[in-house]
Amino acid sequence: MFKRKRLDEISWDEYSSLTQEEQAPFLVQNNGRPYHVLLAQQFDRESLDNLCDLATRIRRIAKSKAGMGFLSSLLDHKRAMLYFHQPSSRTFLSFYSACLILGIRVAELRDPSISSEQKGETMEDSVRVFSSYFDMIIMRNPVQGFVDKCAWMLSNTDRPLPIINAGPGKDQHPTQALLDIYTLQRSFEKCGGLEHKNVLFCGDLKRGRTVRSLSRLLTFYPDITQTFAAPDELQIGQDILDYLDAHGIQYTVTHDFKGAIPEADAVYMTRMQDEWDTKPGESARIRMEDYWFTGDDLKRLKPTGVIMHPLPRRHEIDTACDNDPRAVYWRQMRNGMWIRSALIATVFCRDSEINNYYMLNIK
Ligand code: NCD
Repeated sequence: MFKRKRLDEISWDEYSSLTQEEQAPFLVQNNGRPYHVLLAQQFDRESLDNLCDLATRIRRIAKSKAGMGFLSSLLDHKRAMLYFHQPSSRTFLSFYSACLILGIRVAELRDPSISSEQKGETMEDSVRVFSSYFDMIIMRNPVQGFVDKCAWMLSNTDRPLPIINAGPGKDQHPTQALLDIYTLQRSFEKCGGLEHKNVLFCGDLKRGRTVRSLSRLLTFYPDITQTFAAPDELQIGQDILDYLDAHGIQYTVTHDFKGAIPEADAVYMTRMQDEWDTKPGESARIRMEDYWFTGDDLKRLKPTGVIMHPLPRRHEIDTACDNDPRAVYWRQMRNGMWIRSALIATVFCRDSEINNYYMLNIK
């Protein structure tokens, strides 16, 4: 974990001009746990391992009524606000369920047309209003940097509280990357772990924020190679390739998705992110059929390979794949609830209690 710096000791202009790697130490508590969760880069191998272990323990504890009773007593004095300005099903519901597992009471605002934003209130002021009533805000907002601005702003008030970024703009989706890492780790636990694997990303890699966060987190695992298969218009950004170069990671950029499947340990599919089109019909003109995973492609995939997708899907994975044991996208979605529970428990420093309960009652 990074050495802590304080968000109330830096101006917004200074903070926002830092690189994300330079911003990361400002998001950590004195005890090394995350406070605001805004960036993939604020995690490291040790913190990822801790979160994955904690998620597994929570998952096992939650199997019994007594275990659920324990978990739901941990944070029953806390309240969380889910403030979502962009469509969401899985991220919203898995955060909602994660809060319920830990006993946190939840309120939600997903439709700005019924909030005071209709009366001209700024989103910044709305966030300050929530901070009066809640102990944590979980936010999804399409404006790049807005969630960061709110975290900085609240850290500079007399009611600071943690903000969790549930998908801002096109750049990052840090908690999706956590559940993707957890899914990869669980998928390969019986075949050598996540190390030395090849992850093949396919689809709209330019605008897919989940790929951009996961690609960064994978740099913490030794000898992972990354392959990016997409048409030129949707290929992964040069900033991510520069990041991989800086970390000495091997990667391949290709148009040949089908040719890359046999080498892949994990195939990570994504949908066309056409909500970010800048001209009408921009995405519709791009031919994507060669970048779809079909029932026939199951024959090309290694017996130990897995197919992942952050969901929602359109046509990019044939439903004929759904019942193949290597299609892990449904499990991946459920893993989100466990890893988000682990993350929230860690932010509120309840991880040691969960680990102790596990050692005494489950192990
Ligand atoms: C992703 C997102 O919102 O970026 N969905 C999700 O959080 N599971 C991927 C997508 O919408 O394509």
